[in-house]
Amino acid sequence: MAEPSQGQLDTVMQERRVFPPSEEFAQRARIGSPAAYEELYARAKTDPASFWAELARAELHWFEPFRTALEWKEPFARWFVGGTTNVSYNCLDIHLEGPRRNKAALIWEGEPGDQRTLTYQQLHREVCLFANVLKNLGVKRGDVVSIYMPMVPELAIAMLACARIGAIHSVIFAGFSSEAIADRNNDAQAKVQLTADGGWRRGKILPLKETVDAALEKSPSVQKCVVLRRVGDVQEVSMREGRDYWWDELTAQAEAECPAEPLDSETPLFILYTSGSTGKPKGIMHTSAGYNLFAKKTFEWVFDRREEDVFWCTADCGWITGHSYIVYGPRSAGATAPMHEGAPNWPAEDRFWELVEKHRVNVLYTAPTAIRAFIKWGDHHVEKHDLSSLRLLGTVGEGINPEAWMWYHHKIGGGRCPIVDTWWQTETGGIMMSPLPGAIPTKPGSCTKPLPGVLPRIVDEEGREVDPNHGGWLVMAHPWPGMLRGIWGDEERFREVYWSKVPGHYLAGDNARRDSDGYYWIMGRIDDVINVSGHRLSTIEVESALVSHPNVAEAAAVGRPDELKGQAISVFVTLRNAEPNDALRDALRAHARQEIGALAVPDDIRFAAVLPKTRSGKIMRRLLRDIAAGKEAVGQDTTTLEDFSVLAALRSDEES
Ligand code: WTA
Repeated sequence: MAEPSQGQLDTVMQERRVFPPSEEFAQRARIGSPAAYEELYARAKTDPASFWAELARAELHWFEPFRTALEWKEPFARWFVGGTTNVSYNCLDIHLEGPRRNKAALIWEGEPGDQRTLTYQQLHREVCLFANVLKNLGVKRGDVVSIYMPMVPELAIAMLACARIGAIHSVIFAGFSSEAIADRNNDAQAKVQLTADGGWRRGKILPLKETVDAALEKSPSVQKCVVLRRVGDVQEVSMREGRDYWWDELTAQAEAECPAEPLDSETPLFILYTSGSTGKPKGIMHTSAGYNLFAKKTFEWVFDRREEDVFWCTADCGWITGHSYIVYGPRSAGATAPMHEGAPNWPAEDRFWELVEKHRVNVLYTAPTAIRAFIKWGDHHVEKHDLSSLRLLGTVGEGINPEAWMWYHHKIGGGRCPIVDTWWQTETGGIMMSPLPGAIPTKPGSCTKPLPGVLPRIVDEEGREVDPNHGGWLVMAHPWPGMLRGIWGDEERFREVYWSKVPGHYLAGDNARRDSDGYYWIMGRIDDVINVSGHRLSTIEVESALVSHPNVAEAAAVGRPDELKGQAISVFVTLRNAEPNDALRDALRAHARQEIGALAVPDDIRFAAVLPKTRSGKIMRRLLRDIAAGKEAVGQDTTTLEDFSVLAALRSDEES
């Protein structure tokens, strides 16, 4: 398993700066002092199940109240047992009686300058219409609806419509290839596909329907496909009779009334595929009431919700961040949340700041990889705009290096906005560790403290808690409502990945350490997962994609540090029936794009005569990581065959 690098350790050991919230911020905050946080945390820790049960009663609407807060038969948790609720009801209907009815729920900014604002009332109507479209297509409770769409309001509408009728959505990021869609559709046995004729990105069109057509050739479970007109005449699409329908035509025929169905608390809400250290991506499964409560409360705590705030999370709904902090969290809290289609540098590199100024955004939640790009693009893009509406900033997806943190703090936050560095995962459903911005002084690079009701520990390989400032595995000692309920269709893998290493604990898969102030510092993954621009990819996935090319005999993929992306993908391949050359390198890149998608295209490809292996035959990944990072002097001419056997012999004892 990968150890934290020396660079990571150095960062932790040397960072001494502490930034308490301003008095003004703390005074108005929901939780406004360290003591208030400690009190809440201690109360939750004494009896987490009762703590969450009390919140669930107060914060969610129940058709039928639950009987038991938590049934825990490791590794299976059932929260709010016996209750019936509906996530779409909690996101929409509960806001329709009071003053929020006409409040903007969703402000959409589409790439070619398209705009649309939906109030809670309007969003409710759209969701009801589309829920009826799904019902008319024969979608029933428990059916899986696959969603491959651009960042348009209809994507959020479709997710909420599924929730309304008890269908399970599986959103697939619109950058994935047809192969990746087919894999996910088959694994989930999706019944219906939702897509668009295309999407916009940097002035170009993503041919989404074309990609879906290829995917559906290989996904026999999908019977119907609904296509949104997004780009219109610009993109020709073919519609297959009896399978493909236009979104607007179906919606025009649908009834506007669709009461939310009372659903058992543990009704599956969605599947979201993410990379693990082995094999195909796993379908992380979340259920209704617990996830809903966790998304809502973490949103309110971490982003210090105020009724009048404009909260902008810049993620894509194809990832968990978009699920929890564009769709479900803000909506159940009755917030106004923009949604943005396109890239941060289109039409210009000040796109984000233009939107912050235009919508007077108060809370901005983005990724360190974006922040690093902004720094590179230059301060003048920022300085052109009035960012004085901002009061709070957040980051997610990977650790943020202290320099980027300081830039975000000064340049974007004007030195007055607390920064919440939020640690969590697809599996956790919502934020687990983060400063509560009015209560906890921040340290650049630390996600600080666990949220109330979250019980992390750092342990060694025997499961013993380690001393402060020692690295170890990050685990959770108690289930929380937003915890994944399983890996879709693979109970064995669920047990193996998360529950087999440290008895009684959820294994997060990250290394971490806690300093003497009780602050947590995430040190990177303990498995072969790499984090490219905040996106999880498994090295095995990239390797399998390459090995499926007829000229590749063996492939090893590793992450190497990259200034912008955090990590870049470096691969080493041995060939069969081919000679190394640039054309082949390009062909392999194209192949990875076709098999997985643009995000899996290797940054460097090196050809090797053999891959370095230990005596027991394992690929020496640590050696390859060092070579990829340029720490190990090998021939710089990457077009020649490299023979690692000498280096391998030197390292063999160390790695095996
Ligand atoms: C990493 C994204 C350091 C971590 C919400 C985790 C982070 C994985 C942070 C989950 C952070 C996420 N600091 N590392 N603030 N946030 N990570 O499932 O390795 O896409 O296990 O969820 O990203 O990625 P995922």
